[in-house]
Amino acid sequence: MRLTRRENLEIGKYLQGLRGTKEAALMRRCIQHGRISTYEHVVCVARLSFYINRRLRLGAPDAELVRGAFLHDFYLYDWHENGYPGRLHGFRHPAIAWRKALRRYRLTPIEQNIILSHMWPLTFFSFPRSRAALIVCLADKICSAYEVIVQSRSIRC
Ligand SMILES: [Fe+2]
Ligand SMILES: [Fe+2]
Repeated sequence: MRLTRRENLEIGKYLQGLRGTKEAALMRRCIQHGRISTYEHVVCVARLSFYINRRLRLGAPDAELVRGAFLHDFYLYDWHENGYPGRLHGFRHPAIAWRKALRRYRLTPIEQNIILSHMWPLTFFSFPRSRAALIVCLADKICSAYEVIVQSRSIRC
C-alpha cells in the first residue's frame, strides 16, 4: 500500500489526540498477532481503510473512518495473557473496545458502529451499517491475515 505524503499527513491529522495517549502506549505493549503489537495493527487497519476508501473512491467520511479504525481494538489488554476472555476474545472484544473508547472519547454513531461491527460476521447482530464500517471490517481481516502470515517479524505497512 502506497500513500502519498499528503495522505499520510491527513491521516496524522485525524489521529491527533489518539496516538500520544497512555492508552496508545499500552497498545504498543500488547501483542495482537505474533510479534505485532495492537498499536501496529490498528495503525495498519487505519491506513489500509483510508487507502481503500481513496483508491476505490467509496466516499466514506475519512475522519470517522480513520478514527474508528484506530479505535476498533481499543480493548486495552493482552488477550494472550491469563484472566482475559481467551477463546471468547473474538466475540467479546468489540463490545469491550466500544465501552472503553466511549468512556474516553466522544464518538459519532459511525465510529461506534465501526468498533462494534468490525468482527462481523462473528458478531452476528452487530453488523456494519455504513460504508466506513464495511471498509474497516474488510481492512481488519486483510491486516490480521497478513500479520499472522508474517508474524515472525515486525511489519510496517
Ligand atoms: Fe478486533
Ligand atoms: Fe483488529
